[in-house]
Amino acid sequence: MAAALYHPDLGYYARQIRQVGRDGDFFTSVSVGPVFGELLARRFGRWWLEAGCPENWRLIESGAHDGTLAADVLTALRRLEPAAFATLQYAIPEPLPRLQAAQRQTLQPFAERVLFVANPTELALNPRPGIAFGNEVLDALPCQVIEWQADGWHLWRVGFSADDRFCWDTLLPVSDRAQVAALAPLGGGFPIGYRSELRTNYAGFFAPLLSGLSSGLLLWLDYGFARPEFYHPARHQGTLRTFSGHRAADDPLLDPGANDITAHVDFTTVAEIAIRLGCRPLLFRSQGSWLTALAREWLLAMEGQPDAALLRQFTTLTHPAQLGSRFHVLELAWNEPLAPEIAAADFHRLALGEGHDA
Ligand SMILES: C[S@@+](CC[C@H](N)C(=O)[O-])C[C@H]1O[C@@H](n2cnc3c(N)ncnc32)[C@H](O)[C@@H]1O
Repeated sequence: MAAALYHPDLGYYARQIRQVGRDGDFFTSVSVGPVFGELLARRFGRWWLEAGCPENWRLIESGAHDGTLAADVLTALRRLEPAAFATLQYAIPEPLPRLQAAQRQTLQPFAERVLFVANPTELALNPRPGIAFGNEVLDALPCQVIEWQADGWHLWRVGFSADDRFCWDTLLPVSDRAQVAALAPLGGGFPIGYRSELRTNYAGFFAPLLSGLSSGLLLWLDYGFARPEFYHPARHQGTLRTFSGHRAADDPLLDPGANDITAHVDFTTVAEIAIRLGCRPLLFRSQGSWLTALAREWLLAMEGQPDAALLRQFTTLTHPAQLGSRFHVLELAWNEPLAPEIAAADFHRLALGEGHDA
């Protein structure tokens, strides 16, 4: 999955940049329009005020793709909180040269505010207060395919078929310590042949981002569930999918490099890993309820003079039948001793799943 998506020449994300939007392979909240960035900017502006208006603060956006979300956030923040905008560094870690070139072009009007780095570890030389965030990035981190057998969890290894194609080759018992530890909380008793996915790379992804922040937030938006829903017995074929031309398929071994490959996010694991790194969970909500709360002032300002196009974007982002309930938002505090405790409903949702947010 790592090579199929990120190989510097042949990987899906390295080869071309027209994956997102109408002419691409999939839509995201970013491609819905600028309302998503406008509302994120309101969250960032609120954090900046609550943090005491720090000078020289930083936003770190992972998976910035062609820079569209960055441009939407920066446009809104400049209007909403000019003082925050004036001291902001908007950092974009981007290892793929083709994507970085597209980001530089999109963000030309904000050149003074934006810093491009190939690797987020470069930000650790000069940590600042701020927020590391990303939309639909965690689902794009490579995962393993796991399968339950009578003697426990196994990993599927990819090999070559007789006609020299990739195929699911061998089921290997899990022996790697990190994988054993990550599988332990899942328990046992799954139906034989139950397939799912496992990511053990969240810590490696978060640690360099945290080293670029002296304090602040981690904020992740993605599709996924709490662990009990992710590893629900009924989800026996897992969530690994490919996307091409807005069509979903389920064979990631077919034509690697030509399709997006993605698997849902187990947010409980994400939170546990972040806690181990020193973070504290603040909130876990559906995207619909999170954005609706953020949009209060924005909606009130439109009273009497509604903008139909913007309201349509808002509906797409928040309606439960569209992006509102499939997507979730996880906020975590980093080095912020005064940050509030996570609300009981959010905690239960994170630990037990959506059915338990009474
Ligand atoms: C599904 S796209 C989402 C793009 C954009 N955030 C949006 O919502 O439209 C996933 C993006 O995450 C990027 N990505 C994956 N792993 C990454 C990593 N470790 N660091 C930075 N970007 C990464 C990919 O290159 C790709 O641009």
